[in-house]
Amino acid sequence: MKSTQQIKSMKSRQKIAMLTAYDFPTAKLMDGIVDVILVGDSLGMVVLGYENTTKVTMDDMLRATSAVARGSKNTLIVGDMPFGTYDNENDALKNARLFIEAGAHAVKVEKKPEIAGFLAKNGIEVMGHIGLTPQSITTFKVQGKDRESADKIFEEAIALDKAGCFSLVLECVPLTLAKAITEKISIPTIGIGAGIHCDGQVLVTNDILGLYGDFKPKFLKRYAEIGNEMKKAFEDYAKEVREERFPADGHSFH
Ligand code: KIV
Repeated sequence: MKSTQQIKSMKSRQKIAMLTAYDFPTAKLMDGIVDVILVGDSLGMVVLGYENTTKVTMDDMLRATSAVARGSKNTLIVGDMPFGTYDNENDALKNARLFIEAGAHAVKVEKKPEIAGFLAKNGIEVMGHIGLTPQSITTFKVQGKDRESADKIFEEAIALDKAGCFSLVLECVPLTLAKAITEKISIPTIGIGAGIHCDGQVLVTNDILGLYGDFKPKFLKRYAEIGNEMKKAFEDYAKEVREERFPADGHSFH
């Protein structure tokens, strides 16, 4: 398993591959294949069916994190701190420690460099997240397109680097801004909809597998159509049961 220090040292040398996982079987399948598994709060949307991530609770995330930790023994696991669980230093540290107890090696926070710095000082490895931060921006829109907002995102990147984060997710920002940030800061940038210049990439696993309906933003590449396969299997099963073709004699105990 790569440590956070090893992930950090991959900057500008080797691209970092990160994917999300929320359960034991998926974590087991990707273990040792990707560099980092993110137990993302995207779980709220792609697994629990909420419209955005703001209703996700610590219980939801801890259950998912411990399942992922049982499935993955060779990959760095990052737990995504849900909305409202790191608004002050006490809550942030208490909840980050619960993620570590559940099996995460690090946590991710959206913006909040002061909180990230406090966690880092208290021995918690932290991944930052800026740009389109779904806990505060719930409409899907590229961020940092005008000068003022690009400058703001650039400053946030510098602040999270200084705070002691070991890596930084850049979500849905123009590739020129991602390039400028990647060249400026000392930690690896991991992009999602942030172009080719980032030090690594992350996508939501359910999106790349075709398991989250018709959601297909420009930055997404679908690597499989598992959703169609599953639907076909469900239809075949239901049809065979109704037509009394399943179970066959070979599926019965004699
Ligand atoms: O929750 C999540 O899956 C994320 C990634 C999109 C970076 O935050």
